[in-house]
Amino acid sequence: MDHRLGFEPVRGECAGVSLPVEGDLPNWLSGTLLRNGPGTFEAGDRRLNHWFDGFAMLRRFAIRGGRVTYANRFLRSEAHEHVREHGELGFREFATDPDTGLVGRLERLLAPNFTDNACVNVEARRDGFVATTESPRVVAFDPGTLATHGTTTDSTPGATRTVHPHHDPRRGERVGYATRFGRDPGYTIYRTPAVGAEPEIVGEVSVDEPAYLHSFGLTERHVVLTEGPFVVRPLDLLRDRPVIESFEWRPERGTRFLVVDRASGDVAATHRAEPFFVFHHVNAFETGGEIVLDLVAYPDATVVDALSLDNLRSPAPDLPTGALRRYRLPIEDDGESGGGASGGGAPRIGFETLYPGHIELPTFDYERRNTRPYRYVYGVSNRERPPADFQNQLVKVDVGTRTTRTWSEPDAYPGEPLFVPAPEGQEDEGVVLSVVLDARAERSFLVVLDAATFAERARAPTPHPIPFGFHGQFYRDDEPTRSMA
Ligand code: CO
Repeated sequence: MDHRLGFEPVRGECAGVSLPVEGDLPNWLSGTLLRNGPGTFEAGDRRLNHWFDGFAMLRRFAIRGGRVTYANRFLRSEAHEHVREHGELGFREFATDPDTGLVGRLERLLAPNFTDNACVNVEARRDGFVATTESPRVVAFDPGTLATHGTTTDSTPGATRTVHPHHDPRRGERVGYATRFGRDPGYTIYRTPAVGAEPEIVGEVSVDEPAYLHSFGLTERHVVLTEGPFVVRPLDLLRDRPVIESFEWRPERGTRFLVVDRASGDVAATHRAEPFFVFHHVNAFETGGEIVLDLVAYPDATVVDALSLDNLRSPAPDLPTGALRRYRLPIEDDGESGGGASGGGAPRIGFETLYPGHIELPTFDYERRNTRPYRYVYGVSNRERPPADFQNQLVKVDVGTRTTRTWSEPDAYPGEPLFVPAPEGQEDEGVVLSVVLDARAERSFLVVLDAATFAERARAPTPHPIPFGFHGQFYRDDEPTRSMA
């Protein structure tokens, strides 16, 4: 078997099994890795179209005293329960729509059924843990048992919201954005203060045609929205087609950076670059009147279609290269790139390539370095460029020296690496955790790498293969801090 095993459904749920550990875990490593991603790719006898459509299954690795316990459980979302009861989709997923007749379409016009299939990320909130997707509907769960508590709708404005809110430890606040379609399209930036659970609006940006945004950059004083020219045709959202098919690539627009002041909510600067598409920002920080913004860029939005299950389940999927780029954005608007959110003008912001090979699911020492200068990026990668296989190695990029270290082994397909810092030491003193599909052994394992050397310290094989997932967080036992937002 090869990478295609990672797109096969999981049939069983483990309530908490002790895993064999090969190697030694550092004694300071104590906490819970919670991850999210699809567990099945079917609705009744119908195959879903896209990796992002799969039904959420939570994964939990508890690491304590040198031991590892594993559990997995499907999220009992309304969307998944509907499939289990009726054998067909009841909600519109990212790239697959329910089969509906005229009545269904009319109902959608009146009340769009946002899915609660929260398969993308997890968040620790003041009042508990939730699984998230880009819909405002989040699903609460128990981090110990992975039992589903129920679906609630966030009060953030807009039709879609980011699954990558930022956590600002110095202000103790969470910052995110929602995208508004319809009569007053644009982006609403919000913050949730440390005290008080209700989001407050930081600022609003109005645009004619909202773009598909997946993540954003945060600095100490600014929010950066990177608006690629993958924009919505608003009327299409009302027609009978999946959400993502309502967007079209319009390269003549270029890619815009909207720099928003976190204090006033105003657009401080707008800059334009040659067109590119981005899912994931890495880090951003301010220095010398500029914002340094690192992200993973694709030449265009064909990566969205490339993540269709038809392509991913082929023996050699055709995948574009995501490159690690650094953009430098003046904080002051110089007028040349057009003032305000609707500014035009020629592209003038260039970039440096920090790592030209493929990289995705980028992470760093979020807890200590977010919004600050930093040195190391971790990600999934490919030994080939362009990729000739699914993600088949982990990479560590030193953005200072532009050198890299990699970890790979035959028939192994790693997922998002999360850095966990050691109690003290240099930026890369700590470990990197990743759930790896071992296609040859037809199971997965949690790998623990020494973050400095990228050498393997330990691994813990799981009883079954775990499908490829998206994002997760490591929550330490001894502190309420987190490794990411
Ligand atoms: Co993401």
